Amino acid sequence: MKIITLNSEIEIGKAVGDRFCALLQKKSAAVLGLATGASPLPTYQHMISRFKAGDVSFAKAHTFNLDEYCDLPAAHSQSYRSFMHAQLFSQVDINPENTHFLDGNAANEALECSRFDALIEHLGGVDLQLLGIGRNGHIGFNEPAETFSQGSYKVKLAPSTLEANSGYFEGEHMPTHALTMGVGAILRAKEIVMVATGAAKAEAVKAMIQGENTPQLPASALQNHPNVTIYLDPAAASLL
Ligand code: PGA
Repeated sequence: MKIITLNSEIEIGKAVGDRFCALLQKKSAAVLGLATGASPLPTYQHMISRFKAGDVSFAKAHTFNLDEYCDLPAAHSQSYRSFMHAQLFSQVDINPENTHFLDGNAANEALECSRFDALIEHLGGVDLQLLGIGRNGHIGFNEPAETFSQGSYKVKLAPSTLEANSGYFEGEHMPTHALTMGVGAILRAKEIVMVATGAAKAEAVKAMIQGENTPQLPASALQNHPNVTIYLDPAAASLL
């Protein structure tokens, strides 16, 4: 793992956004693995400004998002489909048909997960995967577990995840389950970049980098990937 500590979220957003842009300049039909939450926002802002400057096009790219809530209408403001539309897709030239999500409302969830995993493989696999990390060390919605999951599957959200994300639902009942890409599938990305900022992530970051490789801390699986860069701010790096 390569660890890079930068002074601010904005600097991290520029560095990570530039990596996505450099990939798209080299490979216009790249397959991008995208994430939601607060961590990727400065990255998306930077990608939008590079697009508006005419430096980069998303027209041929495909995107796969890590996860989606179950039993939340796709049009709900807090669905990850809505999040990505608002924070990135509506502001660049991506073809909406090339933006791929797990359908958390699918009647047959197992079939939906297989469809999603097969489509990633069909398009040649993820070239560059963006990740955040949960306070409990989750990646995507892979919560601490007995084993590392492989393909996409349905997960019950951990109490710390419910607590971290319930604020977005402003008193509305938030979903308790989600469909997520598995840890094994995430590790198949050719290159991975993780963004972790703020003191609330410091324990998980330390365990991911310096702790044992265990499914109880799903992000520790990244220790096994040959091309991972972790971008930290000083607060997230404070326990290293
Ligand atoms: P955050 O979430 O970026 O909103 O902190 C990260 C995560 O839970 O994976």
